[in-house]
This record gives sequence, structure tokens and C-alpha cells, in this order.
Amino acid sequence: MPAGGLLAEAAPAKVNLYLHVTGRRADGYHLLDSLAVFGPAADALSLAPAEGLTLALDGPFGGALARDRPGGEHGAHDVPAGEGPDRDPADALQTDRGLEAEPDNLVLRAARALAEAAGVPPRAALRLTKRLPVASGIGGGSADAAAALRGLDRLWGLNLGEARLAAVAAPLGADIPVCVASRPARMGGVGELLSPAPRLPRCGLLLANPGLALPTPAVFRARSGGFTPPARLPESWPDAAAMARDLGAATRNDLEPAAIALCPAVAEVLAAIRALPGCLLARMSGSGATCFGLFADAAAAGAAAALLPGGWWRAAGGLYERGG
Ligand code: C5P
Repeated sequence: MPAGGLLAEAAPAKVNLYLHVTGRRADGYHLLDSLAVFGPAADALSLAPAEGLTLALDGPFGGALARDRPGGEHGAHDVPAGEGPDRDPADALQTDRGLEAEPDNLVLRAARALAEAAGVPPRAALRLTKRLPVASGIGGGSADAAAALRGLDRLWGLNLGEARLAAVAAPLGADIPVCVASRPARMGGVGELLSPAPRLPRCGLLLANPGLALPTPAVFRARSGGFTPPARLPESWPDAAAMARDLGAATRNDLEPAAIALCPAVAEVLAAIRALPGCLLARMSGSGATCFGLFADAAAAGAAAALLPGGWWRAAGGLYERGG
């Protein structure tokens, strides 16, 4: 453990390059086939030894998950993710205010579940710097919970390994197992069954969100139409253009029409990304409203990001691969 006992874990955004709804379980959950990749923005979690279990939030989107501090002057429920597109998310919350998380925050639930599974007391002081918009289709909450599981596994000296952490994670949310791995993977089942992704070429990703939150259950509920078979993917793609061509021709995000019906700004974001120079594919991620553009490399994605309308949250860069 580093000096001072402080550990850090990145919680990178999860991007669904495609998402097919292949069926529906008796309990209402949807069966999926999806190719998940990570990057180019992340929340940051720090962990330190403590007597009890606490979670402080800061960063541009920390307030969206926080509750009022006892006696504090700032209601946290007034903060972003769901407000007008002309608001700069970076203005929404001062960093360092250290808002306190709701007790049912997914990070705290993950910490308690891990402690229980491992038979240890749940003791840690956690601090989450929230840079990813919430309820936005890039798995922010799932990435945070996964980072907590990885970090607490280290802090508590458990050495459970990825598979057992994923087993603890799965009942908490279908997206958390893939976020525990934080490397490209094919998602099956309701999202929790992972298999290897094709070997991916170098490419760049641009993410953009109009500043609107879109709750996942509402998008699944609004979906109409039948089911889409799983995609047939090659073992690898020679370059980003070939990958974009294949994905554009043979795959889709089945949740896109429902998300656009609930939040027409998604169509605007998609059109804006598609019109950017060098954009090879524009599509919504997860249940939205965040959309992504695929580019030849991180530099092309970064140059394009600067051309998007002001007021939209955006991030650009290369793919993230944990341990890579
Ligand atoms: O698993 P998670 O908590 O992320 O899912 C949030 C909601 O999204 C579920 O309660 C369900 O309504 C919907 N969902 C679904 N099928 C999935 C994943 C999520 O219907 N595979």
C-alpha cells in the first residue's frame, strides 16, 4: 500500500459500441448482446483505512448523487445531470465541498456486499470525484461500484480476483461485472456474462452528452419492437475504419429509438457527432443520453470534440484498458 495508506482506483466510462436486445427474462430484465469498451473519461475513487464506512463526493457531478449535509447550506439535489443543455456541468458543483453520499449509493452497497462476502468489517473512508454525468448510458455508477470492489479488495488484503469480485458485483447491477474488468468485452445474459471482445484496432472515442439524465428503466420500458439476434463479429479488425464500417452495417443500439422518443436531444447530439470531420461512426451508448463518435485515433477525436456546441459535456481520447 502507498504511503499514508491511500489507494486510488480509476472508474472509466463504459461505452457500448453496439447493444442488441436479444430477449426478455421472466423477471422483466432484458437479455443483451453488446460490445463494451472503456474510456476516455473516468471518475476517480480514493480509499483510506478508517474505523467506519464513509463516502464523500466531489467533482462536477458529485452533487447529483449527494444528500444535504446536516446543517449545510447547499442542497445537493439542485445539481446537474438533468438540467438545461446550456449549463456548463463544470460549474455545477465546486470541488472539495465533500458532499456526503446517500446511504443507498451503489458504491456503499458494493462495499457492504464485499465485506459481507469476505467476512470482514466494512471499514474505509472513500472519496469519489464524479466527472462522468450520472444516468447517462456510460455506466458511471457501475464503474464507481466496480472501482470500490477492486480498491477494497486491495485495501482489505482480500485478493479475491476478478471473477469473485464480479460474482459479488452481479446482484448489484448488470453492468458492474464488465466494469470490474474495465477492458473491452462482449456482454451477454443481462450484461453480466462476459466473453472476450474481438482484438480492437487503435481508435479514438468522443463522448458527448446534452446535459440530460435518462433513467435506464424508463428507456427499457419505452422500447418497442421485437428482438435482434446477437451480432456476428470477426476475430479482429485491421483498423478503426473497418471496425466502424462493420459495426455500422451489422449492429445497432436497440435502445436508441426509445431514448430519442424520451429525449429528442439525443438525435441532435448524434447528428452533431456524425457531422464532425473524421467521424467514422456515431451512436448512442447504453440507454443514453450520452452518444459516442468513433475516430481513427485519439488526436482526431480530440480535435473533433472542440467543434461540438458549447454547453454539452464531452470527453475525447483513446480506449482505456485496465492493466494495459
Ligand atoms: O442492473 P441495473 O441496476 O443497472 O439495471 C437498471 C434497470 O434497467 C433494471 O431495473 C431494469 O429495469 C433495466 N435493465 C433491463 N435489462 C438489463 C439491464 C437493465 O431491463 N439487461
